[in-house]
Amino acid sequence: MSLVSEEFLSDFRLPKAIQQLIEVLSEHQRKINGVKPPSSTGQVRYEEMLQAFSRIRGSKLYFPYLGSGIGKGSLVELLDGSVKYDMISGIGVHFFGHSHPELTAIAISSSLSDILIEGNLQQNADSVELVQLLSRVSGLPHCFLTSSGVMANENALKIAFQKNFPASRILAFDRCFAGRSLTFSQVTDKPAFRQGLPLNVPVDYIPYFDSEHPEESTQLAVHTLKKLLYRYPRTYALMLFELIQGEGGVYSGSHAFFKALMDILKENHIAILADEIQTFGRTSELFAYQHFGLQEYIDIATIGKLSHCCATLFSEEYQPKPSLLSQTFTSSTACIRASKWIIETLVQGNFYGQKGRVKEIEQRFHNHLESLHEQFPEMIKGPFGVGGMIAFTPYNGEQDKVASFIQKLFDAGVITFIAGSQPTRVRMLVPVGVITDDEIDDVMSIIRKVLTEPSLCM
Ligand SMILES: Cc1ncc(COP(=O)(O)O)c(C=O)c1O
Repeated sequence: MSLVSEEFLSDFRLPKAIQQLIEVLSEHQRKINGVKPPSSTGQVRYEEMLQAFSRIRGSKLYFPYLGSGIGKGSLVELLDGSVKYDMISGIGVHFFGHSHPELTAIAISSSLSDILIEGNLQQNADSVELVQLLSRVSGLPHCFLTSSGVMANENALKIAFQKNFPASRILAFDRCFAGRSLTFSQVTDKPAFRQGLPLNVPVDYIPYFDSEHPEESTQLAVHTLKKLLYRYPRTYALMLFELIQGEGGVYSGSHAFFKALMDILKENHIAILADEIQTFGRTSELFAYQHFGLQEYIDIATIGKLSHCCATLFSEEYQPKPSLLSQTFTSSTACIRASKWIIETLVQGNFYGQKGRVKEIEQRFHNHLESLHEQFPEMIKGPFGVGGMIAFTPYNGEQDKVASFIQKLFDAGVITFIAGSQPTRVRMLVPVGVITDDEIDDVMSIIRKVLTEPSLCM
């Protein structure tokens, strides 16, 4: 059988045309060579656009960031003419940086598909290939694509509640972040995010691991879990594990800590959800539950951000009844194809393991941060984080000072972000797929310069 689409896709003119477009792009990208300040012309218009945007969306933007639509790897051009290092990558999305030639080529060819966005009722072969791939790399037999990270978590919650009915409560860690839907805004352990919202799912919190007191913190967490199970027997449907806490301040746990809790949860038939929306791809393995050696415990896992397509993966035991999950959109055709390319590249490339690129990048950033800490012990603490999730605490984590440091870094050409409170940290979700060693050194020399600026040191 010969399909029209097969004939179309094998037309010799297509790869040539795409190649030509990519060449035009790379010709212009060559002009982007390093950090650049804003140009003096156009500043007024930029300010006006930012103000209009903030006014219409109803809240101020965290940064004065409006991208121009072109970049080169770790570098991005803004509409004010400046060029900056993007060390937060859309809060963990742009793992392969800006204007990546392969991803751009995928986006161009995807635009020739019959639909720009796929949905649950009508999907193309791209979706089938992606769920097969995700199921293979995760070790979980089922995969449901969805439109955002929080929606992947919502689906996980529904699956767990349905399976463990009539259990009505859930467990999560102190300081966790799980998204911004009505339910997950209150599960997320940050008072400002749930202010004024009604509680619709009762959540009980378990204290997270403390790397300075590993045994005591494990005992405390186990004790709290046991106390809650005694207080509310057979009432918990699920425990949400954000294995490395991102928004909460970049904290990492350990195999022994998670195992101690997971053994008890298994005995009590409580679903174990690994929320990998931020950790996916960023540790020494593709999934953080593989990094911590916990695969055998995972009932449900959610991914998003750098995967470009969000998904809920689940075990045979947690397969829901047919009508439970659906929605109009899964993702754009370009993102579904990009997702497949990204995951294949991650798995086939030299990213993971103790000698992988993720570890090398972690080591290089950590070496710089350690030497900064040695030189200025009062000014900077850290490093914190694992792999491509990197953090440090400047100025004792005082919120206002850290926020102003992040703005100054932005002006100096490095985009980072805030994490946690008491202490507030600086967080980087670096573009692991493209950043070079020289770029890491350059980023760190800008951080060093801004850190020691007299106006901030006071
Ligand atoms: C751990 C975690 N869970 C869930 C989410 C929500 O994902 P999204 O913003 O795509 O809804 C995030 C986003 O930052 C996250 O970091």
